[in-house]
Amino acid sequence: MGSTITGWGGSLPEKILTNADLEGWLDTSDEWIVERTGIRERRVGGVTSDLAVEAAQRALNRSGHRPEDVDALIVATTTPDQSVPATASTVQEVLGLDCGAFDLNAACSGFVYGLVVAHGLLAIGHRCILVVGADALSRITDWDDRGTAILFGDAGGAVVLEVTDEDRILAWDLSSDGSGRNLLYADIGGTMKMDGPEIYRRAIRVIVSSAQATLERAGLTAADVDVLVPHQANQRIMDAACRRLGVSDEKVVSVLERTGNTSAASIPFALAEAADDGRLADGALVLLVGFGAGMTGASALLRWGR
Ligand code: ACO
Repeated sequence: MGSTITGWGGSLPEKILTNADLEGWLDTSDEWIVERTGIRERRVGGVTSDLAVEAAQRALNRSGHRPEDVDALIVATTTPDQSVPATASTVQEVLGLDCGAFDLNAACSGFVYGLVVAHGLLAIGHRCILVVGADALSRITDWDDRGTAILFGDAGGAVVLEVTDEDRILAWDLSSDGSGRNLLYADIGGTMKMDGPEIYRRAIRVIVSSAQATLERAGLTAADVDVLVPHQANQRIMDAACRRLGVSDEKVVSVLERTGNTSAASIPFALAEAADDGRLADGALVLLVGFGAGMTGASALLRWGR
């Protein structure tokens, strides 16, 4: 018995915030933002549970499952609606699920952490799990700090993971280095503070080491990867990490230009877009790799299809 993804979906709030809009109050320029990050616009104004519900409903519809089929709900988020209870409780009620439901916080690596936890739950008896990554980073962004305000946005992404005869999660890796916890943080009720250049340096190392660990465990190499879905933080980080890994540009999914960094939503949102665009052929080897505050790292290698 193993696990496979049978449904996927993404969500974005309606309001678009362009680089030109940011020029209105920040000492920055569209040219600087595009050159240093690859981001042109982001969506803002979401509430995490709304974004999670929309993405999860799409994933559920796509999988053909009904709410009563779901055995567990995992919502990866850094921006819960409230400190208590978990945002998963709200999502569960709106979707009409009757199952265990909990939040998971591993920052931008959260969705892949959730996928691995779900994989484990399926191995010990569950049959169908909703894994959601959703964040409303606009709520904890300091909109007067040009060093961070240009980067972040709101979104949701979700998958249905269910048991299958042939395991399609081939290998995975989770890591965390708490000595980097002060590089990106927000105190309760506060906004994000970040050492951008240091995160930039470490992010590339985390992506490469996590991806290589996963590939090694699967007995495969970067050359075998058909599609790479990295955490969408900065196009330059993605490009540099892919170069070091040896994965060519055309294999890399990037939605960053339109979304900015949406934390736990970024990987499932990009995965859902790639799936909807027909980029994920049956049998394709898909590598998900994330890094985030903590600093956390996570990757998972999937054989796409039922
Ligand atoms: N517009 C114009 N100038 C700017 C801006 C801006 N928005 N922001 C900074 N600058 C200036 C700086 O003040 C500095 O000026 P100086 O040389 O006169 O001092 C200059 O540009 C260079 O600043 P750096 O910070 O060195 O610029 P860098 O090339 O490193 O780019 C950036 C900054 C985009 C933040 C980059 O460091 C980065 O992407 N880091 C990673 C951030 C990240 O991924 N964070 C998310 C982690 S995942 C998670 O868990 C949420």
